[in-house]
Amino acid sequence: MNKISIIGAGRVGETAAHTIAQQEMCSEVVLLDIREGAAAGAALDVSQSASYFGFDTRVTGGTDPALLKDSNLVIITAGSPRKPGMSRSDVLDINRAVIDTLIDEVLEHAPDALLLLVTNPVDVLTWHAWKRTGWERGRVFGQAGVLDVSRMACFMAEETGFSIKDIHAMVIGGHGDSMVPMTRFSTINGVPATTFLDQGAIARINKRTQHGGAEVLALRQTSSAYNAPAAAIATMVDAICNDRRRILPCVCNLDGEYGQTDITVGVPAILGRNGIEQVVELPLDEAERTGFQASIDSIRTDLKHL
Ligand code: 2OP
Repeated sequence: MNKISIIGAGRVGETAAHTIAQQEMCSEVVLLDIREGAAAGAALDVSQSASYFGFDTRVTGGTDPALLKDSNLVIITAGSPRKPGMSRSDVLDINRAVIDTLIDEVLEHAPDALLLLVTNPVDVLTWHAWKRTGWERGRVFGQAGVLDVSRMACFMAEETGFSIKDIHAMVIGGHGDSMVPMTRFSTINGVPATTFLDQGAIARINKRTQHGGAEVLALRQTSSAYNAPAAAIATMVDAICNDRRRILPCVCNLDGEYGQTDITVGVPAILGRNGIEQVVELPLDEAERTGFQASIDSIRTDLKHL
């Protein structure tokens, strides 16, 4: 992949740009932000770390949407973050207007790109962005589950004392309190996680996973999480740039999978060079199906407000 553009040079965008550049996932990273100097300054700062990290990826930034020209992948992180006590849905109206403008710029300057949404509420805005582009569904997707599973893995490591390197977690549903941590599909080097976790530990892990972003925000007060979100973006970018065809939970547009249509929601999917190649359907038990349906219902409520 040659060119990746990141719209929104806040902490998430800047940290993602640094990781993507540092790992030389592409030859050029562009940061874009409407705040004068914010993207250019962030790009310069990242570039000035290149000699220590030893990367040749060119990182530039600015305010002109024409900088998006010929991007292979556009990542949207721009928007209003929530404040302590707010839910992700509380920023829907303000961020929908932001997304509308940005999608029109992408359509004008990077009509052949893949589009990765990060701005919250990400499930609803991924749907909105997809509708506005009119693109095939695999080209427009969102980041949420990769972050949620890394939080779940972190808490599983804490509870079990095992290396996080061996832990594979799974979360489906919306990126909100109704997300469904899937202990039954989580493993510790192939061993079902349930072998090591009692009901109390599972309940603690699930609760902290569902409120993972809010816990960070409540502690920091003035900043949402950005290290783990940026790492999650970079993980998805790596899967795309290297055509790894990884199975990662992504915000996907469902067209019959899981018995759902006209919705974007987090489910495992094969992610590669062309974006979402295939949604992977997990055999859900009754409790998981009920939790997933409740999450879908909450996204549908937000979709009605669009
Ligand atoms: C998070 O979960 C802000 O949605 C982001 O940290």
